[in-house]
Amino acid sequence: MRLILLGPPGAGKGTQAKSIINEYKIPHISTGDIFRKNIKEGTPLGKKAKDFIDKGLLVPDELVVDLVKSRLDEDDCENGFLLDGFPRTLVQATALEEVLGDSMKLDYVINIEVKKELLVDRITGRRMCKDCGAAFHVSFNPPKKESVCDLCDGELYQRKDDTVETVASRIDVYLNETMPLVDFYTKKDILLNVDGEQEISKVFEDIKKALGSEE
Ligand code: AP5
Ligand code: MG
Ligand code: ZN
Repeated sequence: MRLILLGPPGAGKGTQAKSIINEYKIPHISTGDIFRKNIKEGTPLGKKAKDFIDKGLLVPDELVVDLVKSRLDEDDCENGFLLDGFPRTLVQATALEEVLGDSMKLDYVINIEVKKELLVDRITGRRMCKDCGAAFHVSFNPPKKESVCDLCDGELYQRKDDTVETVASRIDVYLNETMPLVDFYTKKDILLNVDGEQEISKVFEDIKKALGSEE
């Protein structure tokens, strides 16, 4: 299955991705996670991306498209993939179509809908695992042991772009640059809307149902 996860920052893309890849046995490709890894390792790509990310702006399209192109070329993507946080602009969406061509068409775009008012609390209370990237929340989804990842025992940290100020800019960027993709994929008849304001497990149930009923 070839899937995209769409939705504003804090909608729960990363959270749902963990369950989706388990269920459908496809690799999780999060451009945000790839950038954070590169920043941590101090690679040239990480150095180019860091300032944009810290300010809550998008990394330039050409950097992102090249990165995803080479990732999709890897063997584990042969039977499908879950893209999380890509595409985020119409330019990226069009480039993705070219990369995939006619033989690897996208199956569905899962659009996780959450209203703006809920996003700031979700993001500022988030804690991420340093090792596996799992997301927790101090109130909504606390880890069993404080500051320790339930999945891999890794240490939890707060992302540098998870401040009130940066979140505001990320939400603006989403509304201006990424929202048009909802229309783009609706027209292609592959958009599945999911109510992301429910409990985490209920959101996943709805995703499974939406995908199942389309098969
Ligand atoms: P990225 O890492 O993709 O960040 P994002 O899109 O802003 O999304 P988030 O990761 O913040 O949110 P999420 O939807 O994954 O939510 P999560 O599941 O963690 O990108 C970061 C930056 O990289 C961008 O700003 C940009 O600079 C750059 N970048 C990345 N891709 C790019 C691209 N294609 N082009 C250009 N630049 C790019 O959940 C959030 C919190 O809510 C957690 O604490 C979680 O526990 C909690 N939560 C989740 N679900 C629920 C629920 N149902 N109820 C209550 N709480 C919940
Ligand atoms: Mg994420
Ligand atoms: Zn972990």
